[in-house]
Amino acid sequence: MASKHDLPSLRILLLGNTGQLGWELERTLAPLGELLSCDYPQLDLADIESAPQFIKQCKPDLLVNATAYTAVDRAESEPELAHAINSAAPGIMAAEARRLGAAFIHFSTDYVFDGLQGRPYSETDSPNPLSVYGRTKLGGEQEIQDAGGAYLIFRTSWVYSLRRDSFVSKVLGWSRSQPTLKLVTDQVSGPTWARMLAQVTSLLVARAGADLPGWVMQHRGLYHLAGSGYCSRFEWGQEILRLDPHREGQVTRELLPARTEDFPTPARRPLFSALNCDLFNQTFNMGLPEWKLALKLALEAE
Ligand SMILES: NC(=O)c1ccc[n+]([C@@H]2O[C@H](COP(=O)([O-])OP(=O)(O)OC[C@H]3O[C@@H](n4cnc5c(N)ncnc54)[C@H](OP(=O)(O)O)[C@@H]3O)[C@@H](O)[C@H]2O)c1
Repeated sequence: MASKHDLPSLRILLLGNTGQLGWELERTLAPLGELLSCDYPQLDLADIESAPQFIKQCKPDLLVNATAYTAVDRAESEPELAHAINSAAPGIMAAEARRLGAAFIHFSTDYVFDGLQGRPYSETDSPNPLSVYGRTKLGGEQEIQDAGGAYLIFRTSWVYSLRRDSFVSKVLGWSRSQPTLKLVTDQVSGPTWARMLAQVTSLLVARAGADLPGWVMQHRGLYHLAGSGYCSRFEWGQEILRLDPHREGQVTRELLPARTEDFPTPARRPLFSALNCDLFNQTFNMGLPEWKLALKLALEAE
């Protein structure tokens, strides 16, 4: 186990503590109970049979899944592996959580939508994924719902942290070496800072009180949870360059608009996949702040 300490009551098992979100969750969940966290290779979800035994041994009251196969383009050539990690494994986790009477928290993606609707997607809008990644993440949602325990699924979008290879860290890196940057104007969604997503998730857990599984059961379901508002990747890049606390290091002098077809990729991405988060905000009386504010705080923090 990566960490274990002596706080009372709640036993939390966090799967995937090295990813963008998992790394932050490890820090925000730690004050809430006894936190056990693990990642590959200690738990390899490609070998999904090992997961139930592992979860059973840990006997959590709360299971949080921050693992995923997130390589959107690579997934096109590794559909079985993407299915194992994104669809089958969450189903097994949800079933095991139910058997143990534990609550289960899982994350999904705006890429379950085709991006053709032209307005932010609500939870009642029909998914129609364009890629293996999107299809396998949708499969994971369905497996969890079928397992029928006490679950919360948070669909989020354009997650970034400055620790890992995210759009924000890439733009900052390019700005140090490329005089001209080209970013697409026709992909639109809501940038979501991994730290704030982790904070809101942990605030909910804290709010649930002593009977966490009972509370989650009462509120169980699928919720959209992403940075408020939306923008194109071009506008996002503009803000990253503007808010960069070390602008003196930038060599980029020109930011040019481009179209998705200018950068062919193996996977198709939805063009407008912003999420409407009203259901989460109204149900839990909290939400993620405007994406520009979160970006400013992220760049100042890291
Ligand atoms: N990133 C985005 O833009 C985005 C957008 C919408 C939704 N989401 C969703 O948000 C959640 C968190 O995403 P993220 O950006 O934090 O992902 P991430 O940084 O790619 O982290 C994924 C985690 O899964 C682990 N993992 C991958 N394969 C594994 C395996 N075979 N066995 C065990 N662990 C494995 C990784 O371990 P290693 O570090 O050792 O590889 C890592 O800890 C995911 O559910 C994702 O689908 C992400």
